[in-house]
Amino acid sequence: MKGLILSGGKGTRLYPLTYTRAKQLIPVANKPVLVRVIEAIRDGGVTEIGIVIGQTGPEIRELIGNGDRWGVQVSYIEQPEALGLAHAVKIAQDFLGEDRFVMFLGDNVIQGGISSLISDFANNDWNSQIVLKRVKDPRAFGVAELNADGSIKQLIEKPQHPPSDLALVGIYMFDHHIFEAVNTIQPSKRGELEITDAIQWLIEHRYQVYPHIHEGWWIDTGKPIDMLEANSHVLEEIKPTVAPDAIIENSEIDARVTIERGAKILNSVIRGPTIIGEDTTIIDSYVGPFTSLYHHVTIENCEIERSIVLEHSTITHLPQRLQDSLIGRNAKVTCAEGKPKALKMNLGDYSNVWIV
Ligand code: G1P
Repeated sequence: MKGLILSGGKGTRLYPLTYTRAKQLIPVANKPVLVRVIEAIRDGGVTEIGIVIGQTGPEIRELIGNGDRWGVQVSYIEQPEALGLAHAVKIAQDFLGEDRFVMFLGDNVIQGGISSLISDFANNDWNSQIVLKRVKDPRAFGVAELNADGSIKQLIEKPQHPPSDLALVGIYMFDHHIFEAVNTIQPSKRGELEITDAIQWLIEHRYQVYPHIHEGWWIDTGKPIDMLEANSHVLEEIKPTVAPDAIIENSEIDARVTIERGAKILNSVIRGPTIIGEDTTIIDSYVGPFTSLYHHVTIENCEIERSIVLEHSTITHLPQRLQDSLIGRNAKVTCAEGKPKALKMNLGDYSNVWIV
């Protein structure tokens, strides 16, 4: 089997972070979502992986390279325009050949990995396997309607009136029959070739599509709130470790805290699950649960909870607790001394600030 990861798209709902960075490279619990996807495919025994890239391709190539670091061989497939998930399959045909493959959207995070899904597909003669998850509001997703015997009746992309609460998770498995489907379907109203329509085509042409209903959590990290939620879920599951060279002085640290190389924690309280990145410094502060501080971050005289802070950012002397926040790279958040007592901001395009 081969792997196909879709890693194009602009990530507009994550502006301003994705103004300057591919959304798949934003870290969840200090590891880029795309790396989590590569590891999930590799752990299922699939090592030949194609990554479909768009405008943010150079940055993705730079981080992932040939995949050696993760024990996989990566090829890149250029998709200059975001013409849809089925279009991505179409342009990956040369790479995929006649092999069965698993396709994974590079911004999806799923509990428990996909090893058992991969082996189920490898051990059956289904033409396709899809993954479904019950969600509160399915209108933002592809939606499946099942028959009484559990087989698929129909699939619809982002319906106004969903026939069920079963959303299509961004993990799909196919054999080569999918190429006939993606070469036949027409663009949807949003002008894209939808993978949902291609799978519906397989169903209508009596190919066997097996629906697996996923019981654990699943997050499509499209919006900031999704990133925070995925971060909380993953932090709850990682096995905490403390790097031997970390410096911890006069601090209270929970059992569920991971501390990476070169981190320094002085006169502070850290509540888990939390991860403190490489060479990050925390002084006279409280870092609460569900927080990921990436590398080279400085926190001084602050309280911070359920947040993600990216590399080289500095947060100091805040009069109130910072919570539910997503802070980009090289950002500075502080409380200025002296007069006038006013809010001063120097924000990038599409930034959001909430003051209470
Ligand atoms: C895509 C698919 C949709 C699926 C979702 C999962 O949506 O079109 O069917 O439910 O991924 O993440 P998009 O991210 O393009 O809005």
